[in-house]
Amino acid sequence: MPVLDVKDLKKGYVSPEGERHLVIDVPAFAMDDAEQVALQGSSGSGKTTFLNLIAGILQPDNGVISVAGECLTAQREAGRDRLRARHIGYVFQTFNLLQGYTALENVMLGMMFGRGTDTAYARALLERVGLRDRMTYRPRQLSVGQQQRVAVARALAGRPKLVLADEPTGNLDYHHAGEALKLVREICRENEAALLLVSHDRDILGQFERVQELSQINRAAGLPTGSEGEP
Ligand SMILES: Nc1ncnc2c1ncn2[C@@H]1O[C@H](COP(=O)(O)OP(=O)(O)O)[C@@H](O)[C@H]1O
Ligand SMILES: [Mg+2]
Repeated sequence: MPVLDVKDLKKGYVSPEGERHLVIDVPAFAMDDAEQVALQGSSGSGKTTFLNLIAGILQPDNGVISVAGECLTAQREAGRDRLRARHIGYVFQTFNLLQGYTALENVMLGMMFGRGTDTAYARALLERVGLRDRMTYRPRQLSVGQQQRVAVARALAGRPKLVLADEPTGNLDYHHAGEALKLVREICRENEAALLLVSHDRDILGQFERVQELSQINRAAGLPTGSEGEP
């Protein structure tokens, strides 16, 4: 059973001028259990939108998304939130750590809506990402690279089957980007979680067996709907 199965997915936005633009039109996309895929695409091509649809944060205009055999798109918002908590870990581009909470609390929060909190596991994850001596630090007291590692630990906290990572190394320097990528991939492998990682860094893309160019599965070009096919 694929961990992710996407069919006939469509999502459009209304521009400030009131025109409807189709951003995502993906007839089919699937990932196997524990598979690691790098998703590539130019800026504005819909990568974040695609990830947010898969995470159930955005509701598509059309189509079916199944995660770990459960149909996400058949659910209302609360159901999608529960499904995300059970099956999906998300490393956001800007980390989205809660500033008022320590590293350990941020990871614990990643468990709350899923299988329940497990302090020992949260500590083990933070140790695994090299933050044994930073657990009681708040995001502001951590370097960008350390915050990124907290975000990785939080994404894994609910023991997800699928981890989504949106340009997780975009804010890091060359050395730290390489380290962070290695860590994300290793931890996903250890946890038998599949990984869908957005990047446009050639060095990073080159490390993945499967690199998916978004434009090859996405028929939408961001044109106003209705104007497609016109000369
Ligand atoms: N809330 C929104 N309202 C209108 N247009 C949006 C909205 N969010 C994204 N877009 C548009 O959708 C396109 C894809 O955005 P995004 O998924 O963020 O691209 P990427 O992550 O590949 O850079 C962009 O052209 C962007 O302007
Ligand atoms: Mg983006």
